[in-house]
Amino acid sequence: MKINVIGLGYIGLPTALTLANAGFNVIGTDYNKELVKTLNEGKITFKEDGLEELFNEVINNKNIKFTTEYQDVDYYIISVPTPYDKMSKKVDAKYVINAVKEVLNYCHEDSTIIIESTVSPGTINKKIKPLINKKVHLVHAPERIIPGNMMYELKHNSRTIGADEKEIGAKVKEIYQKTTDGDIILTDIKSAEMTKVVENTFRAVNIAFANELAKICSYDNLDVYEIIKICNMHPRVNILEPGPGVGGHCISVDPWFLVGDYPFLAKLINEAMNINDSMPEYVLKRAREIMEENNITDFKRVGLYGITYKENVDDYRESPTLQLLEAQKNHLAEPLKVYDPFIKEDLVANQYHNLKDFLQDIDLVIIMVKHNEIVNNLDLLKDKIVLDTKNIMKGAYKL
Ligand SMILES: NC(=O)c1ccc[n+]([C@@H]2O[C@H](COP(=O)([O-])OP(=O)(O)OC[C@H]3O[C@@H](n4cnc5c(N)ncnc54)[C@H](O)[C@@H]3O)[C@@H](O)[C@H]2O)c1
Repeated sequence: MKINVIGLGYIGLPTALTLANAGFNVIGTDYNKELVKTLNEGKITFKEDGLEELFNEVINNKNIKFTTEYQDVDYYIISVPTPYDKMSKKVDAKYVINAVKEVLNYCHEDSTIIIESTVSPGTINKKIKPLINKKVHLVHAPERIIPGNMMYELKHNSRTIGADEKEIGAKVKEIYQKTTDGDIILTDIKSAEMTKVVENTFRAVNIAFANELAKICSYDNLDVYEIIKICNMHPRVNILEPGPGVGGHCISVDPWFLVGDYPFLAKLINEAMNINDSMPEYVLKRAREIMEENNITDFKRVGLYGITYKENVDDYRESPTLQLLEAQKNHLAEPLKVYDPFIKEDLVANQYHNLKDFLQDIDLVIIMVKHNEIVNNLDLLKDKIVLDTKNIMKGAYKL
């Protein structure tokens, strides 16, 4: 069976490799020529535990090819971006719409288009179904994997398949069941759309609760981590960790879809997203307080450790550090110094590529990301003043 995976980014590439590894004949299509060239040169395009090993195994021993061309096959998997419109907060479905339009130019009757991209409830019915100009089937199979543990989760996560035609849903379930040992639940398309967005919204709201607690505790000189530790000993309480903000393309994006679509109802979600978005500015405020306390007068002596949106990955999209640097533009002329071991390219001003050089030039380190590099080398910070937003260092200032 041939499967054409459209979009070979963080989701599409691991998905294409996993399907090929499970024995399917896979063609991965991306309109980014450079990306396809890199893959055809035998190189992966981002770092993820186990990705390179699977890539090498699959390109040497299994049936896969990477191209910029769309194919005529029985099954399509669409894994293209779904950002949100910053004004309306609604999902911006243009990439999915364009990808489906392209597929329709190539596919034959009775083929199945599976949309893995996250979309808001009703998007497929409202925006994709009207494009369909031949007898093809639509399915929604939202992806749940977490960067940093993608390869494991692709094999073990349970999944949701949304199909309005039950027998098509059952066929698609058979395909995914060859890739995961997790349970696969069949439902209708709109419910599947809703589940995915709700899952990420649940996380966002709970993170916002922890972030708000951090602010309240700091205001009243209480240790938020001690409070959370004690509360979590209650059998029905499970508070998450506060942090410097939320980034990436899921938890900082998908809940907005609900705010955009249900503005008169999604009050708590709206407030939670605003709290999470306020955290980078809050970190800056804490930094100012700590500078004052320690007689540091020059922001040139302050540095941010970590640019990516989470630890041990190279994905920096919407990251709290980038949000903080953006917020800082309103207050300071000179951008803060920044370092991240996972970012090799020059991404922002005053960026360092060597930890020791970075530390040499600053007095106050703000830990934004808990990469293993810093967790395993905390002794390097012993002469520094540290604002630790990730709670990895005893005795450091906290949020
Ligand atoms: N990254 C994650 O952790 C994650 C987790 C779960 C779900 N998702 C969802 O998965 C979807 C994809 O996210 P991603 O992080 O893989 O995005 P990405 O930006 O890493 O990759 C998308 C790829 O699609 C390609 N593309 C866009 N339009 C195309 C078209 N018409 N034809 C061919 N190629 C096209 C782009 O060139 C890009 O390489 C999004 O809806 C996202 O919300 C992402």
